[in-house]
Amino acid sequence: MNKAYNIAVIPGDGTGPEVVREAKKVLSAAASKFGFKLNYEEFDFGGERYLRTGEVLPDSAPEQLKKFDSILLGAIGHPDVKPGILEKGILLRLRFELDQYINLRPVKLYPGVATPLKDKGPEHIDYVVVRENTGDVYTGSGGVTMKGTPHEIAVQNMVYSRMQVDRCLRYAFEYTRKRKKKNTLALCGKTNVLTYVFDLWERAFHEMGKAEYPDIVREYYHVDATCMWMVKNPEWFDVIVTTNMFGDIITDLGAITQGGMGIAAGGNINPEGVSMFEPIGGSAPKYTGRNVINPLAAISCGAMMLDHLGEERAAQSVENAIMYVTANKVKDLGAGKMGYSTSEVGDLVADKIAN
Ligand code: IPM
Ligand code: MN
Repeated sequence: MNKAYNIAVIPGDGTGPEVVREAKKVLSAAASKFGFKLNYEEFDFGGERYLRTGEVLPDSAPEQLKKFDSILLGAIGHPDVKPGILEKGILLRLRFELDQYINLRPVKLYPGVATPLKDKGPEHIDYVVVRENTGDVYTGSGGVTMKGTPHEIAVQNMVYSRMQVDRCLRYAFEYTRKRKKKNTLALCGKTNVLTYVFDLWERAFHEMGKAEYPDIVREYYHVDATCMWMVKNPEWFDVIVTTNMFGDIITDLGAITQGGMGIAAGGNINPEGVSMFEPIGGSAPKYTGRNVINPLAAISCGAMMLDHLGEERAAQSVENAIMYVTANKVKDLGAGKMGYSTSEVGDLVADKIAN
């Protein structure tokens, strides 16, 4: 019997449903070629549902989602909903409650794709950011007093436990070893100012590296300098490990160097549980329903998901098909400027896999 995987699909808001449709099309092509089955179940979490029902996420959702082999998400964010409600109530809540403690964000320039970095090509831009995904200022630790008065004080704490740091570092070291590229792991921090938190990260990094990963070269960069080198010398990087907030910021920079939000994929990973794959770009409400948004980021997410499920050959064939399409077909990745519609891009990739 063919192997089957149960996938929870959250198409979400805006252009989410359109790009998820193309990802599913491509995944089906890969599944039939490599002889496995994907069973989908859709969930309507997102802005529309919230506006209709007043509920952001049913309390049963995390437990329900834990039963799946993986989750594929389109986009969360709605122009009629105040910023923060859906992001915190759906995206961050799922990351936390499913304990997806790694946010894996490859920065890879595909052939044919334009980068704003002068004189840089696919041979220079190919690294991975391992962003810690459960700690930092994202935990909600802090508060506000004397609100609305001239004495108002607002505090938002950068929180890290040794356990959170260690499990993230372990994933990053293992990932670097498995990637077999330059065997170099760079810690991105701010040891010169954030002396408590990054002292913890730095000690943990070198202790673990020395004791368990002597084959991996350890480097350290301050976060501000990391941004500089990501632009000037991206070829220096192999794997970067960093905190939640810094990872959020530097991966938007990384995304634009690889062609923008239409191409950047990511995975919220719980190595021991259920993971959730989502394009980095948002819901792009302006383009909703127009069949012009680039679905390659969502399709790349599909490839990451297959890899995570253990279907490495299928994942590779999806990535190869994406690279074929960027090298030969879709040049300009701006929404509405690809020369192909959203569904045509999906067709191009799916056809390449089938033939
Ligand atoms: C991301 C997003 C989210 C984050 C927002 C929408 C909460 O920017 O996935 O990078 O900050 O993690
Ligand atoms: Mn972000």
